[in-house]
Parts: sequence; C-alpha cells; structure tokens
Amino acid sequence: MCGIVGYLGDKQAYPILIKGLKRLEYRGYDSAGCALLNENLELKVYKTKGKVSSLEEYCKDKDVSGTLGIAHTRWATHGEPNDTNAHPHYSQSKNLALIHNGIIENYLSIKQMLTKNGYKFQSQTDTEVLVQAIEFVKTKYDCSLFEAVKRTLHFVIGAYAICVIEKGKNDTLVAARKGSPLIVGIGEGDFFIGSDATPIVEYTNNVIYLDDEEVVLLEKGNRPLINTINNEEIEHDISKIELELNDIEKQGYPHFMLKEIFEQPKSFDLCMNGRLNVEKKEIKLSGIIDHIDKFKQCNKIIITACGTSWHAGLIGKYLFEEFCRIPVVVEVASEFRYRNPVIKQGDILIPISQSGETADTLAAIELARKKGAFIYGICNVVGSSIARATDSGTYTHAGPEIGVASTKAFTTQVIVLTMMALSIGKELKTITNEKYESIVKELCNINEKVESILEKAKEIEQISKIFTYARNFMYLGRGYNYPVALEGALKLKEISYIHAEGYPAAEMKHGPIALIDDEMPCVVIAPLLKTYEKVLSNIEEIRSRKGKIIAIVTQGDKDIKNIADMCFEIPQTEECLTSILSVIPLQLFSYYVAVEKGRDVDQPRNLAKSVTVE
Ligand code: AGP
Ligand code: GLU
Repeated sequence: MCGIVGYLGDKQAYPILIKGLKRLEYRGYDSAGCALLNENLELKVYKTKGKVSSLEEYCKDKDVSGTLGIAHTRWATHGEPNDTNAHPHYSQSKNLALIHNGIIENYLSIKQMLTKNGYKFQSQTDTEVLVQAIEFVKTKYDCSLFEAVKRTLHFVIGAYAICVIEKGKNDTLVAARKGSPLIVGIGEGDFFIGSDATPIVEYTNNVIYLDDEEVVLLEKGNRPLINTINNEEIEHDISKIELELNDIEKQGYPHFMLKEIFEQPKSFDLCMNGRLNVEKKEIKLSGIIDHIDKFKQCNKIIITACGTSWHAGLIGKYLFEEFCRIPVVVEVASEFRYRNPVIKQGDILIPISQSGETADTLAAIELARKKGAFIYGICNVVGSSIARATDSGTYTHAGPEIGVASTKAFTTQVIVLTMMALSIGKELKTITNEKYESIVKELCNINEKVESILEKAKEIEQISKIFTYARNFMYLGRGYNYPVALEGALKLKEISYIHAEGYPAAEMKHGPIALIDDEMPCVVIAPLLKTYEKVLSNIEEIRSRKGKIIAIVTQGDKDIKNIADMCFEIPQTEECLTSILSVIPLQLFSYYVAVEKGRDVDQPRNLAKSVTVE
C-alpha cells in the first residue's frame, strides 16, 4: 500500500532514500517523509503532505546528512493525509523514529494503555501508537531496540512492515514484517530495505525475504540477525532478484502505463519463454506437470483475486470449463474470505495477483488452505508473499508493472491461464489434439497481432479526444469478452475518473438500457465470434435509443461499420484468445482519455498499486 525504504552503510543515506521513494511512489503517495541520523548522532525527521517532490522541496534547506535513514510514502488508512500524519513518527522522547506499512487493528486499546501511562499523541495514526508502544516497552524493560520491537509486536494485531532507528545509534536499523511486504538488500558492507525490489536493485541483487512475524537487526559490520517475535533465531538464504534497472525506468515513454501497454509483446515472450515450444507446438508448465494429479482428482477449481486480476480469473473460468471440463467458481477475494465457502479436500484454489501482496487475496489463501484446498498461484512478483504462500504456481514474468492501472499483468495472466487450461485439458484428454495445436499455433503468433494493434494507437488516441466530455460510459461484451468489458470499464474509471460500467451485452435489456441516451457512449466488443449476431442486435437496441457506439471489431468486418459510430479493428484469432487482443484498444482508450483530461495516469487519486491493507 505505501512505500518503505531504509539504508544503513557508509554512503550518504538521503539521496538513496529519495530515489528509492520515487521508485516506490506508485505504491501509495499522499504524503512522504524521512528520518536521518546525522554525523552528530541527532535524529532528524522531515515529512510533508504531498508527493516525494514536495518532500524534496521541503528538505532543500535542511540538514540531510547521515549514513543511516528510513523513508516512507503514505497511503492513509488512519488519519487524513497531512504533515502531522505523514511518516516517520517520533516516539514521545524523540529518541525513536518509525515508518510503517499496514494497519494496527488494536491500536485504540494500545493507545488507551499508553495514554494512562502518560503518553501523548500528535497524530491520528495507528502508526504513532506503535512507535510509542516500542518506546514504552524499551523503557519498561530497559532493553535494546531489537528486543523492544520483538516484545511489542507480541501484542500487536494487524499488518505491518516497519523500520525503526534510534537517536545516538547510527549503526543500527531494526525492521519487521507481518502481512505487508519488506525486503532486505545486502550490499557491499551496507544494507537496504524496500517494500519491493525497485529501490534496491540499483545497488544489489542480493536480498533476503523476511517471513511474517520476523524481526531483523541490521548493524554495520555484522550479518543480519533475524529472530521471530518469539525469539527463535532464523536463517534465510540470500536470494537473487532478477529485476534490471531499466525495467523500472520509463525509457522515454511519458508514463509507465503507456510503456507497459507497449511492452506487452515483450512480456508475452517472457511469459511463454521456456514454456511454449514453438517447434513442437507444445506447452510445458513445470507446476502443472508436477501436480497434474491434483487437477485430475479435484472436484472444482476456485479462482480468487481482486480488481483486474479478478477479471483475468473470469476468463480463466471460461478456459478451464471449455478445455478441462472442470467446474470453476470465480470469487472476489474480499468477499470470499469473510464467507464460509464450501471447500472440499482436494479442491484447487488459484489465487491471481500481480503484486503478490494483496491482503484480501492472501487471506483467501489462508482460508482455503485451512479447509484443505491445494493452492496454485499465478503471480508476477517473484518471491512475493502470495507466491510464497502457495503450494505451487506459475509466474506471469510480465516484468515489473509500475503504473497503478494494470495492463501487461492482465494479458499475461490470461496467457498463463490459457497455457494451464491447454496443458491440463491435454492430460485429461478433454481437448482434441487439433484444437490444442490450433490454439498453441495462435499463441505463437499472438505477438504479431498485438503489434499490429499497437501500431494503430493513434487511431485510438483520435477517438479518445471525442469522448472526454462523457460523464458515464457503458462497456459491453459476451463470452470471453464479458470480462474484457469489465476490465475496460475499470481502466477508464481508475485513471480518467469517468464513471463506467461493464456488462454482459445481453443484460442490457434487463435494466441498464434505461440509461442509454445520446450522453451515454457505449464501447461494444463485437469480434466475429459465435455470438456476433446477438451482439449486433444489442448494438441496434442501443442505437435506437441514440446511444453512441464504439465497436471493437474483427479486421475486415464491414457490416458493423454501418451501425457503429466508430470502429476499431483487431485481427482474427481463436475465440479463447480474443480477450488478449480486444483489451488492448481499451487500455489505450482509457490512457488517452485520462491524458486528455490531464489526469495523473501513473498515480491516480485515492489509489495505490498494491492493496496490502483490508
Ligand atoms: C487494476 O488496474 C488495479 N490496479 C487493481 O484493481 C488491481 O488489479 C487489484 O488491486 C489487484 O492487485 P493484484 O493483482 O496485485 O493482486
Ligand atoms: N496505517 C498507517 C497510516 O495510516 C500506514 C498506512 C500505509 O500503509 O501507508 O498512516
């Protein structure tokens, strides 16, 4: 949800912290701050409402020296975004400074106890309660910061990724995590902390992934000391992050989102590399091969995710039911986790998540695991919490997705789901060899088709300029393109702030058609598929009520040009792959509308890239 950065070593910390915050700003950005221990061992906290650039401006005339520091970009959960509620938070004595990602659920009861013990609070945040509690414990037990953090986290309920530093100690940084991501970078005699790898990769590829309820003591000249909050000593192997620096730069694009839309052919290559054998026209997914028996014996597949990943999951339902003949339910994770769902031993849960840190999806995994499900994950971030919480899985390998609006993650999720369905269907003999080979062949050619769409981006840009007036939009699709209608609507909503709804096209006559007038443009996904004629009728229904139609059509389809106000052509492909093509003009359309409206495309208001709180 927010971004956390830390540095301990021999370099000046401030520049590293600021650059790290900028790389993490996509995660949450309503306020920012840093704490530094300067050469005189003074603990300085600088923080301000607004983006990292506001913090930089604020720090221009400040003492930002020091080789130890922590920094934070906030996505508020408790207390409005303002200077006081921004992190880091001092303890009462100003001997400690702490930054936090997550929610302390029992902060009120802890606050009451601390208030009774004479503590006063400056902010409305749950985070300030945490740093005050650590100071209370440290004083009460006269113990080290490391010990005090372990003891305090014993009575904390909720999610946290924290860094704490102490006045007078410029060789010590303590960090901990539970339910929120945190990575420790091991440099040449220095240490880095990040909510993900993006602020670390410039300095080192050697990282340690902390597990939940683990606390790490970083001291200059020593190896990291990791304990659980119950004082068990833990050893973690050092992992290598695969990220490259230029993966997280804009490389000349005006926005990460546009870069990531145009990167999709490259992401598809990375996603299918080593899995789809072009010569043999064969798919091999190690996770499926190792656990194919689970899919053979399962009663049902439960797909669970949030947002765009949930839309990909809906496409997964069509794929698994069509090619594997396995019953599938698709669940919004935030609803699923609070129900008492019927899960039988051997059912398979497929959580889908780009970030691998979505709290609701993580909670759904824990619920399903308790009920005996086998967990097969689809994630983009290697080593993420969800990736490590599953029994097996398949990475999408889309590369880092920085823009808040998910694009290449969605299409690579659909590709992974397609490869899974084909592999399982082939093993279960529920798909003909002819169909299998035809789809695999199309997958081998999908990049050329995507490139041909991207080459016509200017067409979409022209269309988008016409519709910036709209205050409402309808997106309609059928079959594999119904989830695409939902996805197109979400893209428009989240970056242009125009209200948009996605609907199954046939549902219009059951109510929503009452909304149609000449102020309500409709995007209709109408490729030449088995329901084409039905979609044409839906378009006629809308036209007869003066609705404006933007149709996504199959290349060469002349008929629809007579009834739609505007058409955008996509190449013909297998029905089950159309969503990979039909979503791209919708991604571009939402992008250009948002740019035309002057929106903050990569960091839209109220949103964050990874929703690690509930
Ligand atoms: C999609 O554009 C949004 N950024 C959001 O809906 C996102 O898909 C959702 O929060 C799920 O995130 P995840 O894939 O990282 O779990
Ligand atoms: N709950 C804390 C706050 O509201 C942290 C929010 C975040 O993760 O940025 O300040």
